[in-house]
Amino acid sequence: MGLVNAKEMLAKAKAGHYAVGHFNLNNMESVRAFLLAAEETRSPIILGVSGGTAKYMGGYKTIAHMVEDFMEFLKITVPVALHVDHGTYEEALAAIEGGFSSIMFDGSKYGIEENVEKTKYIVSLCKEKGITVEAEVGAIGGEEDGRMAMGECADPNECAAIAALGIDMLAAGIGNIHGKYPADWKGLNFDVLAAIQDKTDGIPLVLHGGSGIPDDMIKQAIDLGVCKINVNTECQIAFTEATRKYIEEGKDLKGKGFTPRALLAPGLEATKQKCIEKMALFGSLGKA
Ligand code: 13P
Repeated sequence: MGLVNAKEMLAKAKAGHYAVGHFNLNNMESVRAFLLAAEETRSPIILGVSGGTAKYMGGYKTIAHMVEDFMEFLKITVPVALHVDHGTYEEALAAIEGGFSSIMFDGSKYGIEENVEKTKYIVSLCKEKGITVEAEVGAIGGEEDGRMAMGECADPNECAAIAALGIDMLAAGIGNIHGKYPADWKGLNFDVLAAIQDKTDGIPLVLHGGSGIPDDMIKQAIDLGVCKINVNTECQIAFTEATRKYIEEGKDLKGKGFTPRALLAPGLEATKQKCIEKMALFGSLGKA
């Protein structure tokens, strides 16, 4: 099976009261780790690509080809969507051209009018090509690819205006933050989440900053309509910790332990296990 868009997998998740994990690609090892995790657990998956990753991995077209060819090589049979994460207007257009099956256009830096105009245009292009669209209202806190934002709560009325533009999923800030949560973090604002879902006619909601949110909050968010959860930092940390352990144990100094494939193997396996752990929490295992 080739890439699919995110529509059907999110509709099923919403109906089945679970969430599909969106896992950010960072390198070739992460492509392999996430595809294997999804296939092994019969879980649908969304692979996310930020602008930084796109630059690092050779652009959207290269990544789309790499993921599709990997899927064929690994005989992946579960639904896989390849999604732009926090795309600027230009990045979203490049990814549509490059063969992605799903796009996030992050117009949160624009005023609501300009966000609406640009989102409309992206939606019209994507509809023609069967590509799903995620839009964002209310900047999500923390740092991602050099962009900083404080965790703020989205205005449910603005969410309703954006949701009505024909998008397939909506990311709305509810106090969530990318990266590590500070010790004094106040948690997710479930009142705002409930109000957003109420005003947006059951549209699939997306929770960014999925790393480090306590399990009970994740479950409550799913109960209130979240059916896509984005995770990056926890997988990155799992990769790096496993790689550091390999070197600290001196394994790179034994035999052929210095080869890049041997060096990166523990990180790949740790990424895969972290992905499976998150999918189990989100309830998507066996749902492919
Ligand atoms: P974390 O890095 O906090 O898991 O957030 C990932 C994310 O939201 C990507 O859009």
